[in-house]
Amino acid sequence: MKKTHLTRCQVETPHDVVQLVWSLLSKQRPNQIFDSVLDLGAGDGRFSHTKGAYREYIGIERDGAKVAKANLPSGAKLLVADALKWKGREYDLCIGNPPYIRHHGLDPAWRDSALKTIHIGGGPSLKKTANAYIIFLTQALLRTKASGIIAQVIPYEWVTRPSASELRDFIKSKNWSVYVYRFDSDIFPTVLTTASITIIDKNTTNGKWHFGVINRDGVVTSVENPSGTTAEVLSYSIGVDGCKALRGLSPGGQEIFVLTEEERLFYSLRKGRDVRPCVTSLRAIDQGVDLLNKKLFEKLFVHSGARCWLIRSDLDRHSTELARYLESVPTEAWRRYSTCTNRKLWWRYRPHPAPALLVASGFTDKGPKILVNEVGAVAAGSVYGVLLDGSSLYHVTIANRLRSYDFQERLVHHSNGLKKIEVRQLNAVLADLNSG
Ligand SMILES: C[S@@+](CC[C@H](N)C(=O)[O-])C[C@H]1O[C@@H](n2cnc3c(N)ncnc32)[C@H](O)[C@@H]1O
Repeated sequence: MKKTHLTRCQVETPHDVVQLVWSLLSKQRPNQIFDSVLDLGAGDGRFSHTKGAYREYIGIERDGAKVAKANLPSGAKLLVADALKWKGREYDLCIGNPPYIRHHGLDPAWRDSALKTIHIGGGPSLKKTANAYIIFLTQALLRTKASGIIAQVIPYEWVTRPSASELRDFIKSKNWSVYVYRFDSDIFPTVLTTASITIIDKNTTNGKWHFGVINRDGVVTSVENPSGTTAEVLSYSIGVDGCKALRGLSPGGQEIFVLTEEERLFYSLRKGRDVRPCVTSLRAIDQGVDLLNKKLFEKLFVHSGARCWLIRSDLDRHSTELARYLESVPTEAWRRYSTCTNRKLWWRYRPHPAPALLVASGFTDKGPKILVNEVGAVAAGSVYGVLLDGSSLYHVTIANRLRSYDFQERLVHHSNGLKKIEVRQLNAVLADLNSG
């Protein structure tokens, strides 16, 4: 794993949340004193700090510096090791807060060996796109005894993410009962995902999944579905030709590839020849607006100083002006983006077509902003594009149908009021609307 990813994943659990996990455990297993407790990715061993709940606690932590400064109660110890190489088993409880590292940040050799160990050890075949916390959660299930229990502070999204589907299927195949408590507030303000306390009780095999919202004082409100409403969470689909949502283009550093009007003029870049319209966010647009035409684009993007001109460095030939602009970009600026360093020519991105519709991926209202893209802007960053065949009337029809769709009812809610739709969920909605 890259050093930056290790440092970034070292988010410590607040002490009151550690106690909340222990109190949920004591409700799940009243009067049980756990003989042996395992903590994978234990940091400074803070989950060992509780009274009379266990006899022996062992924490596995990769970072020796964390272990060196730990102050542990009696019965607890920390070892510097790789949690996925840990062979100890038959623990009564596996507790903790594993690292959140997306698959791009994982060392491929470490990931491949971890996935292989899990599979050989009787676990599921996880996808290569699984986040580190999914790998750790699976390891926790394998290291505990048949009557054991798992209590982990992990992102709530594991209940719906396609990259965790093999793990969910594995748990379902064992009929273990699952309790997922979503926090109603940001307990990790620096991390952009909603946290949960997830308990998997291997001893209760009724196969039930329970969902709840928990506050910082430990009060739990039960909910029927992961979405927190009576509707099922949106499914995922890859879309079909002629009606397909695409993730926003990420050419590698918006400050390099998407220029403001002032920058465009400064470098004498010509519209059409050197740059094309582009939107990286729909925040400036009012919820009621449904068409992005030239006039609105000029007002809200061009003349407001927004980044709105995508340079045409995807083309084979560049004008002298564009070539001069590319030369003026300092090497250390583009080197910061792996998208650029991974390319033969750092500036040569693969273009996206201008979509028929522009859709915001995040929203706070009933649904995302949806605009008919009359100006022909490329969708970049957090804006999705919907490619549609057919006439402009058909585009307007699909936009209207999308606007009246109740997204809010069918998405996992985030604690800060922001809801996010995944591009494959948007494709599932499109397929649904098209068939209706
Ligand atoms: C999110 S932090 C949580 C630390 C601690 N459990 C807490 O709750 O405050 C995850 C920890 O996992 C450690 N870690 C990351 N990869 C690891 C690995 N392969 N083996 C063991 N520990 C690892 C990190 O160094 C970090 O301390």
